Amino acid sequence: MNIINVSYRNTDYNIYIDNNILDNLKNYVDTNKKILIITDDKLPKKYIKNIGKQLIDADLFVFESGEINKSEKTLFAILNHLAKNNYSRDSLLIALGGGITGDITAMAASIYKRGIDYINIPTTLLSQVDSSVGGKTAINSEHGKNLFGTFYNPIMVLIDPTTLNTLTERQKSNGIAEIIKYGLIHNEEIINCLENENLNYEKLIKLSIKSKLYFVAEDPYDKKNRQILNFGHTIGHALEKASNYEYLHGEAIAYGIKKMIKGTDFENRVLNLLKKYNLDINIKIDIDKLYNYIKNDKKISNNKMSLILVKKIGNGFIKTIELKDIRKFL
Ligand SMILES: NC(=O)c1ccc[n+]([C@@H]2O[C@H](COP(=O)([O-])OP(=O)(O)OC[C@H]3O[C@@H](n4cnc5c(N)ncnc54)[C@H](O)[C@@H]3O)[C@@H](O)[C@H]2O)c1
Repeated sequence: MNIINVSYRNTDYNIYIDNNILDNLKNYVDTNKKILIITDDKLPKKYIKNIGKQLIDADLFVFESGEINKSEKTLFAILNHLAKNNYSRDSLLIALGGGITGDITAMAASIYKRGIDYINIPTTLLSQVDSSVGGKTAINSEHGKNLFGTFYNPIMVLIDPTTLNTLTERQKSNGIAEIIKYGLIHNEEIINCLENENLNYEKLIKLSIKSKLYFVAEDPYDKKNRQILNFGHTIGHALEKASNYEYLHGEAIAYGIKKMIKGTDFENRVLNLLKKYNLDINIKIDIDKLYNYIKNDKKISNNKMSLILVKKIGNGFIKTIELKDIRKFL
């Protein structure tokens, strides 16, 4: 069992990582509470059954999977379900699933009755290493990805690496893109691990979360250095939107990373890694369309934007550039 205590400002909760941790919920959760489990329709049912049977007063809210449904419509369906069924400020939400489920559940928890508790149980690699950590909640808008959101932390995160056994190879690679990002911006040990043949997920999850927390604890509200976590994301988010979410988040980020490392002396090392994990994807995209979506990025003001670059592996930094100069990277 690995326990990572997340403690900064007025935040204090634990992330528990252990194989089969979900079989013993009562050790972590007050199973008598009125609980709403939120998940999407593609999560293997065995996880829902396992969690559901351990809770006394739990109901289930299922939404259609996919980025297009990380929306105002789903968010308000959850909020109205809570209101209609008399969930109180003492009730508990459980996000069970990937990053979309986590982001939308967290946002619902943050605004229902001005905030109720939620527990995040991330079951994709991407959500275990990234979206379940750091307190960002979000839904998408037709004007851009993650455009509406709040900062709100769970009371606990439970990570069971055995849930990765049911993920497709494509979904695993999706998470590995974010892990590569951590290696590039913060910790070369992660890159070394990924270059070895046998993946040790538990170790990679732990190292990734520690890298993420390194930036989050110092700058929880994303005003300065936390933005380094957005390495590859400006172009990646624009690609997700411009392609109408044809590419998974991690695939789009990998594309963004590839553009950002062009011409560095570690370019080949990273390209080899992207190839190894099927993340060096051939993407045909209209550059003007991509640029138009970049213009809507949250981080842009006065036609200037913060670009994240990597000096050497393990060392990300922020550079302010004129918006139009992003074109050189596309
Ligand atoms: N809040 C943050 O800080 C943050 C950070 C990174 C990414 N994100 C967000 O995360 C989202 C992407 O998350 P994702 O990649 O997990 O996508 P996702 O939530 O769509 O999950 C992918 C698919 O895998 C299925 N699934 C989940 N667990 C499974 C399992 N164990 N076995 C088989 N199938 C399973 C889901 O049902 C879903 O269909 C994006 O919306 C992105 O913006 C948020």
